[in-house]
Amino acid sequence: MPGDRAREDDRTAPPLVQLSGVTKVYGGGEAAVVALAGIDLRIDDGEFVAIMGPSGSGKSTCMNVLGCLDTPTSGSYRFRGVEVTSLSRRQRALLRRYYLGFVFQGYNLLNRTTALENVEVPLIYRGLPRAERHRVASEALAAVGLADRADHTPAELSGGQQQRVAIARAIVTEPALLLADEPTGNLDSKLSREIMELIVQLNATRGITIAMVTHDPDMAAYARRTVRFHDGRVIADERTTPAGAAVG
Ligand SMILES: Nc1ncnc2c1ncn2[C@@H]1O[C@H](COP(=O)(O)OP(=O)(O)OP(=O)(O)O)[C@@H](O)[C@H]1O
Ligand SMILES: [Mg+2]
Repeated sequence: MPGDRAREDDRTAPPLVQLSGVTKVYGGGEAAVVALAGIDLRIDDGEFVAIMGPSGSGKSTCMNVLGCLDTPTSGSYRFRGVEVTSLSRRQRALLRRYYLGFVFQGYNLLNRTTALENVEVPLIYRGLPRAERHRVASEALAAVGLADRADHTPAELSGGQQQRVAIARAIVTEPALLLADEPTGNLDSKLSREIMELIVQLNATRGITIAMVTHDPDMAAYARRTVRFHDGRVIADERTTPAGAAVG
């Protein structure tokens, strides 16, 4: 029966992300900083997880580990069952390129290039031919509501529009996991809500799993699960009802 089949898959398929006993220590000796003090965290396909916690509690460090931008000092990170800590630098770069998308507070757009060209960058790395690149990048820009701004440079766009370009660039490769570190940190509350609604929509319609760091409970309220960090540990992990969802 289909239901049994789904449960069977649940039991046998490895989770998208599984951190087990992950630590990260920066520096050594007296100056050593324990950024992650033993993190266990599982994220399944399709989830939308908000990560909260005080400044310095290890949220960005955890995102960098999840994004293969940094390696744990000890512990295990499995991505779809593959032990990431055993991969070479080159293999981790490929994992980033084919499975992960990133959105940061500072947008990180190329200033002298158009919105469309910014969104094309990850496709260049993937070796897509020019015409195909144009088509796929235009679709991603349309998906974030910026079809009519394709030829604008970042300086010619508002903060919210720049962040939407950054999101288009992050999703143009259809990543399995989108990592967003304070994606609305520089935006006013109206633009922040627009960006959150966009992220919710990408999660719901494209099945992109999302891990998002935020300080703002109003932004975390869009997620269906909130993980709280304190001193490099997970101190709470709770399911939440997304804002605006019908309560039944
Ligand atoms: N590259 C680094 N070298 C040394 N220490 C670092 C480095 N990156 C982070 N840390 C330290 O690790 C701890 C966790 O930092 P992290 O950036 O993960 O915190 P955070 O929860 O993201 O904080 P915030 O909310 O301020 O962004 C902090 O004490 C920080 O000073
Ligand atoms: Mg941070």
